[in-house]
Amino acid sequence: MKVNMPTVAFKGSYTVKPSEPTWIGSMGLSEWDQTSCLTHVPVIYFYLPPGSWLSPPTAIADTLKHSLSRALVPFYPLAGRLQWIGHGRLLLHCNAAGARFIEAECDSNLDDLVDSSLSFQPSELHPSVDYSLPIDELPLCLVQLTRFKCGGLGISIAISHAVVDGPAAFHFISEWARLARDEPLQVTPFLDRSVFRAAQPPLARAPPSLDDYPQYGRLPLLVGQWDNLEEREKKTTKTMLKISKSQMEQLKKMGGGFSRYETISGHMWRTACKARGLKMEQPTSLVIVVDSRSRMRPQLPREFFGTATFDVIAQSVVGDLLPKPLGFAARKVREAVQKVTDEYVRSGIELLKSQKDLTKFQDIHKEGPPFLGNPNFEVVSWLTLPMDGFDFGWGKEVSMGLGSHMLDGNSVLLPSPEGDGSVVVALCFQVDHMDAFKKHFYEDMI
Ligand code: COA
Repeated sequence: MKVNMPTVAFKGSYTVKPSEPTWIGSMGLSEWDQTSCLTHVPVIYFYLPPGSWLSPPTAIADTLKHSLSRALVPFYPLAGRLQWIGHGRLLLHCNAAGARFIEAECDSNLDDLVDSSLSFQPSELHPSVDYSLPIDELPLCLVQLTRFKCGGLGISIAISHAVVDGPAAFHFISEWARLARDEPLQVTPFLDRSVFRAAQPPLARAPPSLDDYPQYGRLPLLVGQWDNLEEREKKTTKTMLKISKSQMEQLKKMGGGFSRYETISGHMWRTACKARGLKMEQPTSLVIVVDSRSRMRPQLPREFFGTATFDVIAQSVVGDLLPKPLGFAARKVREAVQKVTDEYVRSGIELLKSQKDLTKFQDIHKEGPPFLGNPNFEVVSWLTLPMDGFDFGWGKEVSMGLGSHMLDGNSVLLPSPEGDGSVVVALCFQVDHMDAFKKHFYEDMI
């Protein structure tokens, strides 16, 4: 991974509105939309377009803006704006206010910055979002086109997680790319979010309790500490760790029959405990993001365009996790994921609906996001997400990068772009513990 810091000059900022009239009105957001991550998640794709696309110099920007404007017709919620309606609740105004399109130039060559591997990319290459502005002024979709000296380009797309989750965001990008290639829309987004609204009247059973949903309570603190303020302040660093196909097979053998996600997240959870030097009596939680589309009854279509991802928690103590084999941690992960049934999801919605104020469940506020760092950990899977291979007309990307929005204890599993069965782990961890993490991560695979 290359790490040279580029200088980026901003050349223009435009509003791109839907190319045709769209439905105008207020769309109620689901309880999932309004909790957990409400900020924008940026991803960047790098391209080396052929010479025919470089002249006139406006050809690429015009193609992107024009196709974005067409994409915002079927995906019109992304052209809207959010509004606070009190008690930490949000409404989505589908008002065709539009997406933001930024053009920039970078004084580096693409080669100086990326190779074919996945990388973290500096914030200058991603659209910046000023969360101190009123929320109804923030576009829900921002795009930054950055041209490099060599003719290469970066397209960073930042989409509000308050409006859609990862699977939906990648669906949007893939359809936008099709429109840019002058191909028709392949899969129309499913826009009805009512399935994730609380039942009226509430379901006829005992009211859900916060005890059944530890993800909405307080995660464990370091033994001997009363809050996590000190841990939040600690300096973090990011890295990409590769798990080769043979290492993956070895890990799976050690786990004893679990999926790649269960195996890797179990391994990382144990590694984090070891690297942090946690005491044996330390309780620790692992946060898992589960896509509920296939777990609802009836199942939700894959093209459900909203937030259907749901956080669950695996819990243990270091004195169990470390001495016991990897299969113990992997089983904890499986049991947590298996909790996500139609009934559990619906009760969770009732529970959130019954909360007076949702502010404490949201990451957008100054008080800080829910802290998933030391002694806890989060593993998000993008292993099965259609997150790459986006051709806007000048060929597929040469590489992909992530934004730098991750915090201590956040990690994402991605399929390796080499397509050789290896897996890449994007990790943010405290500087003081990162070397130990890398050491144990690889040493304990054998
Ligand atoms: N394409 C290819 N393979 C798929 C697949 C798909 N659409 N869906 C599932 N599989 C495979 C998985 O890769 C896994 O095989 P593996 O062990 O070789 O990796 C197997 O089928 C079982 O998958 P699953 O039932 O999903 O369990 P899991 O333990 O692999 O993953 C979760 C558990 C909770 C991570 C996963 O079910 C999930 O929800 N992923 C999406 C998370 C998400 O939305 N992330 C974005 C957040 S914004």
